[in-house]
Amino acid sequence: MIGDKKVIFSGIQPSSDSITLGNYLGALKNWVTLQDEYNCIFSVVDMHAITVRQEAAQLRKNTISLLAQYLACGLDAEKNIIFVQSHVSEHAELSWILNCYTQMGELNRMTQFKDKSQKHPENINAGLFTYPVLMASDILLYQADLVPVGVDQKQHLELTRDIAHRFNSLYGDVFTVPEPYIPEKNAGAKIMSLQNPTAKMSKSDPNPNGCIALLDKPEDIIRKIKRAVTDSEAVVKYAEGKDGVNNLLTIYSAVTNTSIKDAEKEFEGKGYGDFKLKVGEAVAEHLKPIQEKYEDYMKNKDYLESVYKNGAEAARRVNRRTMAKVKKKVGFIVD
Ligand code: TYM
Repeated sequence: MIGDKKVIFSGIQPSSDSITLGNYLGALKNWVTLQDEYNCIFSVVDMHAITVRQEAAQLRKNTISLLAQYLACGLDAEKNIIFVQSHVSEHAELSWILNCYTQMGELNRMTQFKDKSQKHPENINAGLFTYPVLMASDILLYQADLVPVGVDQKQHLELTRDIAHRFNSLYGDVFTVPEPYIPEKNAGAKIMSLQNPTAKMSKSDPNPNGCIALLDKPEDIIRKIKRAVTDSEAVVKYAEGKDGVNNLLTIYSAVTNTSIKDAEKEFEGKGYGDFKLKVGEAVAEHLKPIQEKYEDYMKNKDYLESVYKNGAEAARRVNRRTMAKVKKKVGFIVD
C-alpha cells in the first residue's frame, strides 16, 4: 500500500507496432478505470520482449509507440507511474535474486513457455524459460496488491504468489502477495481469434484476419469482423459451443458498455451479416478517438520522453526500500 491506496502493477510487451484488441479489452481498458481508485504503476516491458528475437531499431519504435498507446487509451501520466522496464535496472537485479528462489520444475510447468518454444524452436533461450521470474520481480518490486491482466497470465501470477510466499516464509514479510485482477470471460478476459475462436487473439495469429490491432484502420476492422468465423445456427446468443458468436458478443458489449443480455436483445431476429457489421462499426467507432489521440502523442516525442524519464525516477523511488530489504535479507552488504 502507498498512502491509503492499494497498489496496482501491470505491463504489456512492446513486441509489435500496435497492441491487439485482446490486450486492450483484457488489460489496458481496465487499467484506465482503476487509475482513480489505486496507486497504479504501468510499465512498457521491453526486457520481456527480447525473449523473442527483435530488430533493435524496431523495438525502440515499438516501445515509444506503446507508451503513446497507453496514454491515448486514457492512462494519465500525472496520476500513474508510467515507465520503460529497461530504464529501471532493479527489475533485472531482483529477477536474478528470485531466480535463485524458483525451482526448475515450477518453470517447466509454464504453458506459455511450452507454446513459445514450439513457435520459436530455433531460439529456446534461457530468458524465455526464466521470463516468469522477471514478471514476478516486476510485481513484487512495487509491493503490488493487484495485477490486472488477461486470463493467459494467470499461471504466471500463481507462480509470483508462490515465489512471494517462499521468500516470506524464509525471511519474514518482505513481499506483498499479489492478487490477480482478471475480468470475467464474457467481459474480455480472453478475446479469441476471429478466424479460430477457440484460440486466443494474438499478433502471431497465422491468419492476419484473426487479429484486430488497436491502430487498424476502420475499414480493416470492419472487413476482419465481417469475415469472422461464426456457426451455422444464425442465432445471436451467448451459448456453449458458439465460440465465434460469443467472442463477437463479448467484444460488442465491451466496446459499447452494454451487457451481453442487452446485446442479445438488440440482435434478436437479426442475421449474422447485420450483427457483424454492427460489431465492426462499434469497434471502429470506439477506437477512433484513441487512434486520434495516439497520432497527437506521437507528434510530441519530447512529451513522451518526459513521461518515461519521470516515470523511471518515480519507479525507482517506490522500489528502493524493497530492493534494499531483499538484498539485506539474502546476505548482501548494503550501505
Ligand atoms: P502480453 O504483452 O502478452 O499481454 C499484455 C496483456 O494483454 C492481455 N492479453 C489478452 N487479454 C484478453 N484477450 C487476449 N486475447 C489477450 N492477449 C493478451 C494479457 O493477459 C496481458 O494482461 N507477461 C506479460 C507482460 C508482463 C506483466 C508483468 C503483466 C510482464 N510483467 C507484470 C503484469 C504484471 C505479457 O507477456 O503480456
